[in-house]
Amino acid sequence: MPLSNSQMRDVQSVLHPYTNLMKYREAGPLIFDRGERCRVYDENGKDYIEAMAGLWCTALGWGETVLADVAAEQMKKLAFSHIFGGRSHEPSIALAEKLKEISPFPAGKVFFANSGSEANDTQVKLAWYAANARGTPQRKKILSRMKAYHGVTLVAASLTGLPNNHKSFDLPFDFVKFADCPHYYRGAEDGESERDFSARMAANLDALIQREGPDTFAAMIAEPVMGAGGVILPPEGYFDAITKVLSKYRIDLIDDEVITGFGRTGEWFGCTRYGFEPDSMTLAKQLSSAYLPISAVVLSPELTDIVEQESGRIGIFGHGFTYTGHPVAAAVALKTIEIYQERDVMGHVRHVAPYFQKKLSRLRDHPLVGEANGVGLIGAVELVADKKTKQSFDPARQVGAAVNAFALEEGLITRPMLSDRLAFCPPLIIDEAEIDELFVRFDRALAKGLDWATREKLI
Ligand SMILES: Cc1ncc(COP(=O)(O)O)c(C=O)c1O
Repeated sequence: MPLSNSQMRDVQSVLHPYTNLMKYREAGPLIFDRGERCRVYDENGKDYIEAMAGLWCTALGWGETVLADVAAEQMKKLAFSHIFGGRSHEPSIALAEKLKEISPFPAGKVFFANSGSEANDTQVKLAWYAANARGTPQRKKILSRMKAYHGVTLVAASLTGLPNNHKSFDLPFDFVKFADCPHYYRGAEDGESERDFSARMAANLDALIQREGPDTFAAMIAEPVMGAGGVILPPEGYFDAITKVLSKYRIDLIDDEVITGFGRTGEWFGCTRYGFEPDSMTLAKQLSSAYLPISAVVLSPELTDIVEQESGRIGIFGHGFTYTGHPVAAAVALKTIEIYQERDVMGHVRHVAPYFQKKLSRLRDHPLVGEANGVGLIGAVELVADKKTKQSFDPARQVGAAVNAFALEEGLITRPMLSDRLAFCPPLIIDEAEIDELFVRFDRALAKGLDWATREKLI
């Protein structure tokens, strides 16, 4: 198909993230025009079920006019005012108060940024700042995990355990040390229970810390459910086991709730769902239902105090973004959280999640599907060449990307990830009829995928 006028204009001017930019010159973009609830429409009017809520973020779906009105009102009243050097404004104050009120662990104060990556960079800077303040300046290493995703700025990309975020960028920085990815389906030994697997993950973490020197680590960062690395659920007992290791060595835990925060698992926060208490938490995405960019770092009272003390000693807390606590973004985020509360969005997630998860796990019967599982309104399938042996497809054949393309043909947006895994993470407002439609379209995509894989002799 020849490219449309807007596709050509795009190809000539926009450098796209997460794209093979050479292939893109030929293929051009899929251009979206509008959205409503869980559907988006392309420039030709074709509708798609947005089963990824954008990039794991549009919790309230499209067309939430209450948020548009709040943004417009705040823009008219005070479009911008910074919070550097002792200034403030009501939207920042009210949002910080609200986040403290709903925080799953005792919260001291809240720092605002604009993206998950910036917030995670901030987390590492704060961990170093705190290490210096505590008189332990040698504690600068940060633990992360293989297949973790924490963003793309230099430090956040270093925390990310995915090769595509490192190649040709000269990353990761070597202060980041990677623990195992706790993927039970792929990593468990024959006959090993989830609990035993978790214990082994924790023992390996302990050994890594011992090898590197326990007093060289400032913190570990972890997503409650690993998102972009494949929607990998923590195995039973995992957080209990690893938090014990971290406390033994006084290593702080940074909880990256960028995907799991605000109801994705059916609880307000993933750490509550998995029963652990962090020292700090990174929030973004569903914080504003993606209606405007905003992120936050929520700190424990102890960390807050130490950061404040250190800034007093030095004379300044020399960190902050022009748009830290942007009044319009903060007002929209506050309203988003109020909507979650007023409409009991968490209750809705808990109500529809079993239906969603039942439909997802039913996919295990399909000849191409090895693993299919999730929690709340997030999940993934892994496509395999042989279900019994769990043999993967040759990565060069890009089977996941092919099924994703069939899904697009069928009017469904999923997300292909490493190892031919496809993610589902629909808006939290999705209802049962929309869940039905999502899986009808995915069934059709899988059927096309099976025909194609059979023709290509891949299975
Ligand atoms: C768990 C997690 N942390 C951090 C980030 C980075 O957020 P951003 O893309 O807003 O920088 C993401 C983005 O997908 C994420 O999933």
